[in-house]
Amino acid sequence: MNNDIDAAVQSIEWREDHVRILDQTYLPGREVYSDIRDVGRMWEAIKKLRIRGAPAIGIAAAYGMYLGIKELPENAFESFIVEVNRVAEYLEGAHPTATNLEWATNRIKSTIRAHKGKEISEIKKIVLQTAKTIHDEDKRICKKIGEHGGDLIPKDAQVLTHCNTGSLATGKYGTALSAIFHAHEQGKKPFVWVDETRPLLQGSRLTAWELMNAEIPMKIITDSAAGSLMQRDEVDMIIVGADRVAANGDVANQIGTYPLAVLAQENNVPFYVAAPLSTVDMDIDQGDDIPLVERDQEEILNYSDSQVAPKKAEAYNPTFDITPNSYITGIVTEEGTVEPPFDEGFRNIFED
Ligand code: MRU
Repeated sequence: MNNDIDAAVQSIEWREDHVRILDQTYLPGREVYSDIRDVGRMWEAIKKLRIRGAPAIGIAAAYGMYLGIKELPENAFESFIVEVNRVAEYLEGAHPTATNLEWATNRIKSTIRAHKGKEISEIKKIVLQTAKTIHDEDKRICKKIGEHGGDLIPKDAQVLTHCNTGSLATGKYGTALSAIFHAHEQGKKPFVWVDETRPLLQGSRLTAWELMNAEIPMKIITDSAAGSLMQRDEVDMIIVGADRVAANGDVANQIGTYPLAVLAQENNVPFYVAAPLSTVDMDIDQGDDIPLVERDQEEILNYSDSQVAPKKAEAYNPTFDITPNSYITGIVTEEGTVEPPFDEGFRNIFED
């Protein structure tokens, strides 16, 4: 066990000429690291949730852009940029909900455009450097989110969280989990209720693993137990992450977030979302306009090679839901906690 948060696991790492990821599909049973050397493998890793969580997906996409362009011919900028756009579009298709992906590909594309006129071999080096910068920035941003979010957690609080928002889902520290790590470091002794997060169990497989590594007391609950715990006054606050936040503060996050928020309001439990500003999409006015990924029905019908439904049964597997802003107490970002009305709060930040 290792309770030093600064020594937290690295979900993604640049290694000389390739990316190394901790393949999250094997956790918590095995720590398997995979080397990714081409954009096709990066697309597959994002699609199959080997690397997951919106900020980590953004970092992966930035490195993926470099892997996708590093062998391109170095003669004409015009044909180079056509290929760059093609690689970006390809990567963006791996996860349409997590806005950090498109945020990262857009940042790489605008960096390339800003250096038009330089040798293409030079531009390629700048792209790799930009990916590394995105990665480093995310670590600092997540640390800040943890500080702001940790301040909101009362002493001895019972905190409920959903899905996985820790170091595994980001460059380091996490978003919602970073707040819990920070409160723990402050000696506030938080206790965590971990929603198991059906169907892929990111809560019980990944969040529980990270909390146990940090020696933070926790118990896993089924997703459907959360409401009853709130009714019995056993939850002091809820903090979750986000895959995309609309300009009005509506939040897309792992399926099961919306019912948690509704039950939180019903039971007077503060409901916080923690996310970097790169997850806030000011081009999308409201949650209804956020594209939501649906995943394979097999994730519900089978688990770990066991059939858990009758043969030929069909399932429907929406993976993300939208929590309307009216259920959200505050959105914790690296710049502090934005309170309702969120559109005004975000405008102030982005127009600064
Ligand atoms: O499908 P996943 O496991 O990528 O879903 C992740 C989440 O829903 C997280 O809450 C979100 O990406 C925030 S990660 C800090």
